[in-house]
Amino acid sequence: MQNKHSSAIEVGILGATGMVGQRFIQLLENHPWFRIVWLAASYRSAGKRYEDAAKWRLDTPCPERIAQMTISPNTPEGAPRVIFAALDTDIALELEPRFAAAGCAVVSNSSAFRMVPNVPLVIPEVNADHLHLIEAQSWRQQSGGYIVTNPNCSAIGLVMALKPIQERFGVEQIFVTTMQAVSGAGYPGVASMDILGNVVPFIKNEEQKMEAETLKLLGTLDANTIRPLAARMSAHCNRVAVEDGHTECVSIKLSRPATREEMLAAWAEFKPLAGQHLPTAPAQPVEWVAQEDRPQPRLDKNRGNGMAATVGRLRPCGLLDWKFTVLSHNTIRGAAGAAIVNAELLLSLGKLEPIALAAAQT
Ligand SMILES: NC(=O)c1ccc[n+]([C@@H]2O[C@H](COP(=O)([O-])OP(=O)(O)OC[C@H]3O[C@@H](n4cnc5c(N)ncnc54)[C@H](OP(=O)(O)O)[C@@H]3O)[C@@H](O)[C@H]2O)c1
Repeated sequence: MQNKHSSAIEVGILGATGMVGQRFIQLLENHPWFRIVWLAASYRSAGKRYEDAAKWRLDTPCPERIAQMTISPNTPEGAPRVIFAALDTDIALELEPRFAAAGCAVVSNSSAFRMVPNVPLVIPEVNADHLHLIEAQSWRQQSGGYIVTNPNCSAIGLVMALKPIQERFGVEQIFVTTMQAVSGAGYPGVASMDILGNVVPFIKNEEQKMEAETLKLLGTLDANTIRPLAARMSAHCNRVAVEDGHTECVSIKLSRPATREEMLAAWAEFKPLAGQHLPTAPAQPVEWVAQEDRPQPRLDKNRGNGMAATVGRLRPCGLLDWKFTVLSHNTIRGAAGAAIVNAELLLSLGKLEPIALAAAQT
């Protein structure tokens, strides 16, 4: 599938050696619209060949072209104008504004700017209209650059499952318990001695992020601010001995009653991007599995090429109205894939194009 340019748009990856950085490389390698031309990580990696700096952790080989690339310094000089960022929060706080100020579109995975009022926190299927917020960013006004973020990996599957329900019936209360994969903590992440045969009932700041981000994502755009969804929410976040895929048990109270058939129809008919032809967007964003013991991370995490949220076990809840289980791939839909589909949406809206063209002309 071609974009409106005759050639692919040049992109870079900040944090290219990490768990999410590697997913970016894997997902972008044969991307029809974007081509990786620049990789950066910390000063420890700068100047090295990628294959010497990164401990490749994915189950497909590192592309040879990438393996031979040299890691650049983490500065905007010489970087392309479209940057996928996969940095730890404290580093992102410092570096992402520098790239935005230098005129780059920074499509970020980190939590550093997600809750800043004029920074869009976006899932294209859920709240594409929130991208309007970039026009209120001073970087955008001064250099053309901006920051767009995608949510925490625990929030994304939940919000994809909630959006069609919220649209049709309203959601007033959300109670969720997560079972989150170890890859969500980056590499090397949780020590094997802490997680093997074990469950860790604490992930620092995760519950607060999940609650705040869910309500912002389901909120409404009002001029240049987001009014968060006025729902009550409680999240319990746990780390479990699973490699990839976050599983979440959800109970919800609705504003209007819904039957089981109506709930299933809301998920089945949820195709807000139909006809937009974004290459990474799944045709069926929320997939239903009917078997009573699904979804499971090992069996269902790769549905929609890892970009779908899989729901199952819908049944009445004794406390609220309905309960169900949702699963999503944390480093694909919950991280790199989320950012890539955000960039595809930006390009299709003409918000990436002027920036990329300016780079090509300089
Ligand atoms: N893993 C997930 O499922 C997931 C999901 C959603 C969001 N996220 C978020 O994505 C971000 C990255 O997560 P991750 O799991 O990929 O972490 P990670 O595996 O620890 O990777 C961190 C990356 O940041 C680089 N880095 C460290 N200091 C740097 C500096 N001063 N300048 C430039 N680069 C620097 C590292 O490079 P070196 O190799 O040179 O140290 C590495 O490439 C985090 O904010 C995380 O919260 C992760």
